[in-house]
Amino acid sequence: MTTLGTPLSPSATRVMLLGSGELGKEVLIALQRLGVETIAVDRYENAPGQQVAHHARTITMSDPEALKALIEAEKPTLVVPEIEAIATPMLQQLEDAGVVRVIPTARAARLTMDREGIRRLAAETLGVPTSPYKFCDSLAELQAAIDAGIGYPCIVKPVMSSSGKGQSKIDGPADVQKAWDYAMAGGRVSHGRVIVEGFIDFDYEITLLTVRAKDAAGAVETKFCDPIGHVQVSGDYVESWQPHPMAPAALHKAQQIAQAVTADLGGQGLFGVELFVKGDEVWFSEVSPRPHDTGMVTMATQWQNEFELHARAILGLPVDTSLKSPGASAVIYGGVDATGIAFDGVAEALQVPGSDIRLFGKPESFLKRRMGVALVHAADTDTARKLAKEAASRVKPRKA
Ligand SMILES: Nc1ncnc2c1ncn2[C@@H]1O[C@H](COP(=O)(O)OP(=O)(O)OP(=O)(O)O)[C@@H](O)[C@H]1O
Ligand SMILES: [Mg+2]
Repeated sequence: MTTLGTPLSPSATRVMLLGSGELGKEVLIALQRLGVETIAVDRYENAPGQQVAHHARTITMSDPEALKALIEAEKPTLVVPEIEAIATPMLQQLEDAGVVRVIPTARAARLTMDREGIRRLAAETLGVPTSPYKFCDSLAELQAAIDAGIGYPCIVKPVMSSSGKGQSKIDGPADVQKAWDYAMAGGRVSHGRVIVEGFIDFDYEITLLTVRAKDAAGAVETKFCDPIGHVQVSGDYVESWQPHPMAPAALHKAQQIAQAVTADLGGQGLFGVELFVKGDEVWFSEVSPRPHDTGMVTMATQWQNEFELHARAILGLPVDTSLKSPGASAVIYGGVDATGIAFDGVAEALQVPGSDIRLFGKPESFLKRRMGVALVHAADTDTARKLAKEAASRVKPRKA
């Protein structure tokens, strides 16, 4: 394991988070509880995680030279990517040179940074079931891919995007141009490449939190959390719950897929494996080599939440993935475009039985920006979902 020292002293174990949003903030808190010295990096000042870390640094993380200079100056024991938009080839270079250890591995960060790396690995190298797909660089290629077999309905996504940005469903020929234009406007970098995927008419979708952590003998073992069910609207998560019931055969397949993908990505840490399920059939969708937004529910449902699991796993400590109680999470959106907003109704939200909330502290609110989350534990997930949505709806963000 990584020896734990004293923060702000020469014995400190220093961990750098690349990305300090709401998920990074919770990882930072979990690390601090173990006496780790933390460095929170983001592209803007006062990001949620920067507000709780020992050190805050603001750089453009997609700029390889800026990233290199920061890592060389700070000399962290571990670098923990928390977002996708990072100069991952530079991380690879620094890892190869022995300058730093990247979580879970620099290769995993690079392959999951865009949809092409991870999709080709899963489908073509590992032979894991996925939706049919094709990568396209122009409207003409997109139309040709649909005509040649992807068919309708299908989904178009920029290769570099997350939270559903630039993503849309195509129901027929009339939608193709619109979906292409939308993807071009919503991608993270302006190199117009998209993936078009056949639409999977799943019964439900889950996130299978999968942890690669050291066992008592020091070997990496794979452990699974209970499946997390979730609802996505326009490709963005709005509510999640745990456990989501699954037929034994489907659960077994889901775990096999998660095991195969995470074993190939390697290293230590927690992964969010996104899967579609229909009957006993399971398709791999994508994976985050880090805590997952839908996994925020584990703050209400597990003895060790996904952030604590990640912190422990990356430090080489034992993990416990067991469930504490059924529960649910519901997103609190900004509802207004404004900076420094205020939140009414928090006390009313916390009147909901079994509820808790997190307000992320983002300096700027947008109509559809995730500003907080309601968490509820209850006797069953149906009750928890209802109560979590009720609690979230009672929080009223407003201009201050
Ligand atoms: N091929 C598909 N068939 C059916 N539904 C799909 C397909 N691809 C994506 N979806 C739906 O859209 C959601 C978002 O897709 P995906 O996870 O690929 O996008 P994302 O932008 O990476 O989202 P996030 O960052 O929130 O995970 C999925 O969770 C699923 O509900
Ligand atoms: Mg996703």
